[in-house]
Amino acid sequence: MKSLYVLVLAAGQGSRMKSELPKVLHPGVGREVVQKELAARGWAKLHYVIQDKPKGSGHAVIMAKSWLKPKRGSLLVVYGDTPLLTSQTLQRLVDHHAVSGNAATFLAMDVPDPSGYGRMILDAQGYLERIVEDKDAAPHERTITLVNSGVACWDIQMLLEVLPRLKPNNAKREYYLTDAAALLRNIGGRVGVVRARNPDETHGINTRVDLARAEAIFRQRILEHWMREGVTILDPATTYIDVEVELQPDSRLWPGTILRGATRIGTHCEIGPYTILESAVVKDGARVGPFARGDAQVGKGVNVGAGTITCNYDGYSKSQTIIEDGVFVGSNANLVAPVRLGHGAIIAAGSTITEDVKPNALVVARTRQIAKEGWAKDFHSKHAIKRSHS
Ligand code: UD1
Ligand code: CA
Repeated sequence: MKSLYVLVLAAGQGSRMKSELPKVLHPGVGREVVQKELAARGWAKLHYVIQDKPKGSGHAVIMAKSWLKPKRGSLLVVYGDTPLLTSQTLQRLVDHHAVSGNAATFLAMDVPDPSGYGRMILDAQGYLERIVEDKDAAPHERTITLVNSGVACWDIQMLLEVLPRLKPNNAKREYYLTDAAALLRNIGGRVGVVRARNPDETHGINTRVDLARAEAIFRQRILEHWMREGVTILDPATTYIDVEVELQPDSRLWPGTILRGATRIGTHCEIGPYTILESAVVKDGARVGPFARGDAQVGKGVNVGAGTITCNYDGYSKSQTIIEDGVFVGSNANLVAPVRLGHGAIIAAGSTITEDVKPNALVVARTRQIAKEGWAKDFHSKHAIKRSHS
């Protein structure tokens, strides 16, 4: 087995995002795009190469030349703005490349709308002749729907041989990595193509429209994963689950439920509707919502009533609310963290809780209701007199 190295290209401003923030640092579902990419692959031991003045994807690889030079084997190049690739697809590309004897193998996909992508120009045998970038494509080339995903596997030593020949003589005045494909052919290397089965995976993010689409695909993937694991999601269209969240089977998420951070939901829980939980821990059989919000630890069989908020932020730091097993929190309670509600306690609706509650206690923390009999009648008649004078 030959060695495999991976290079993630993540430099450049991403001018099409029209943002002060570099493209790959735009936040995704709970995480930044580039972090998500690395975490999803479980890549640890990183080595950073700085591209001071980004002059194109080819230039990015040129900057990594001294890192690459002593290495033998294959280099998998992935783009930081293409975070939806699955490890299965990457593995398929790497495996194909390893047995093919190709100098390079590209991951391509057939898309209904190829605009923005590099078009794959194949020879009669189905090998890659060259890649023409969107901005440089002739009208007849623009109709090609087989496009470059950006992911490719390269023989390291052959790539090093052609890198110095890249020229920025194109529409963007950039060193295109994709030009290395035709250069490899010129020195007798064969360049193969593997097709992605699901074009969603190779969706690249250049604009905020692309970013929203990537979010939607990623979100749907997470939702489908948890539905397959036995979680009922009544309205996937309004449910948001961060990538780090974990749920147990037979819990139900009602519409408008947003689970963020490292939230953990046990089995037989009912969450929502319209409930936001952030890094909360909810034990088996608890009911939280509707309209609840917070980052609490919620014990077994707890009921967190409608409109309850755990007030976890004092403007400087965040604190946690701990709700022990069997607690009943009435509607519209405010639990001012840090605070602990002992097991079995009952919190009256509308209470604002600022101090710890003993187990099995009943707490009413709101002003007592005052009733003044007949008061309203006098009030109404006073106004009636005023009205008749005006
Ligand atoms: C690139 C491909 C195109 C492919 C498409 C797939 C090239 C020349 N073209 O086009 O064939 O269809 O991706 O999404 O590669 N980057 C750097 N340094 C730079 C420039 C870019 O690290 O100097 C990184 C970016 O962060 C990005 C990636 O390289 O993650 C691709 O760059 P981008 O400008 O987005 O290329 P595309 O025009 O999308
Ligand atoms: Ca791109």
